[in-house]
Amino acid sequence: MSERKPRVFSGVQPTGNLHLGNYLGAIVRFVDLQQDHECIYCVVDMHAITVWQDPQELTRNIREVTAAFIATGIDPQKQIIFNQSRVSGHAELAWVFNCVARIGWLNRMTQFKEKAGKNREKASVGLYDYPVLMAADILLYHADKVPVGEDQKQHLELTRDIAQKFNNDYAPRIRELGLGEEFFPLPEPVIAGPATRVMSLKDGTKKMSKSDPSDLSRINLSDDADTIAKKIRKARTDPEPLPETVEGLKDRPEAANLVGIYAALAGISKEKVLEEFGGRGFADFKPALADLTVEKLAPINAEMKRLLEDPGYIDGVLAAGAERARAIAEPIYADVKRIVGFLG
Ligand code: TYM
Repeated sequence: MSERKPRVFSGVQPTGNLHLGNYLGAIVRFVDLQQDHECIYCVVDMHAITVWQDPQELTRNIREVTAAFIATGIDPQKQIIFNQSRVSGHAELAWVFNCVARIGWLNRMTQFKEKAGKNREKASVGLYDYPVLMAADILLYHADKVPVGEDQKQHLELTRDIAQKFNNDYAPRIRELGLGEEFFPLPEPVIAGPATRVMSLKDGTKKMSKSDPSDLSRINLSDDADTIAKKIRKARTDPEPLPETVEGLKDRPEAANLVGIYAALAGISKEKVLEEFGGRGFADFKPALADLTVEKLAPINAEMKRLLEDPGYIDGVLAAGAERARAIAEPIYADVKRIVGFLG
């Protein structure tokens, strides 16, 4: 019997302003994992509408994330790229998981607290339930590994808790149906590299984020070379030269962030970056970082633009990807229905 390759699943929200954090924390890993995994990369449009999205912009952003995946090097012939709402199993399994997950578990989710802010009563029910849909995304494909940035760690722990509780609650039934001991495998997070948490260019203690009102806080994948150089020039720093060692970056969040970005873009360690730039000031380091960022992002930016001129091609990739995703998801969800006792 031929063993299947380990399966990877991850998602990115089409909420505009794809940035360097999304790229280094997640999308670059997606590309690496293609070599020896079966990969499913999802544009999570149902997650996006947990906060208001203008419909036309949402459509545009779904295509933009798809273009970013392809432009970065994900091969849509080999891997699966699709948008979530096309595969109904995500919503169906999320409902089953709503009845497995406990309110107490969701009350502990820090991202909901951050996103809902003070006015929690006015947040959508979907925003609260968001991590359950995320668990459904992953488990619908029996994914083994999930590459994400640091900020998704808690959601992945919840995913494992949901999988475990489902497996336990239905253990006799799963056995009776001959579906093995553990119906849902417990997926492993892949949180790796020197930039799992890229910080804002304006405040090294805040995460780089799509929703920061200041565009100067982030480098967008759609920024041109001049804009990138300007944003790096204006990035907040301290007056000290760069330290010689990584320990010297402690308590210097802005310096640590820029060194981490350089290391991730160059594919080297922070130690190596400091071997070259330790003792030198930001007046030296920032232009080097700007050049490197432009060198890495310009080809992606150009390819995204080229792809977006042909929305028909992008839509074709998503439709074909959804068909392949459905072929994996449908038998798994059919088993879930039998396990739970649904008829039909
Ligand atoms: P989203 O769309 O907010 O972000 C997409 C990916 O980018 C990572 N990321 C970062 N990494 C490093 N530094 C940053 N500043 C930074 N900002 C964002 C995120 O960790 C993420 O990996 N809930 C997910 C989408 C999702 C998903 C899934 C992910 C839905 N279903 C199933 C994995 C598996 C999210 O909101 O990502």
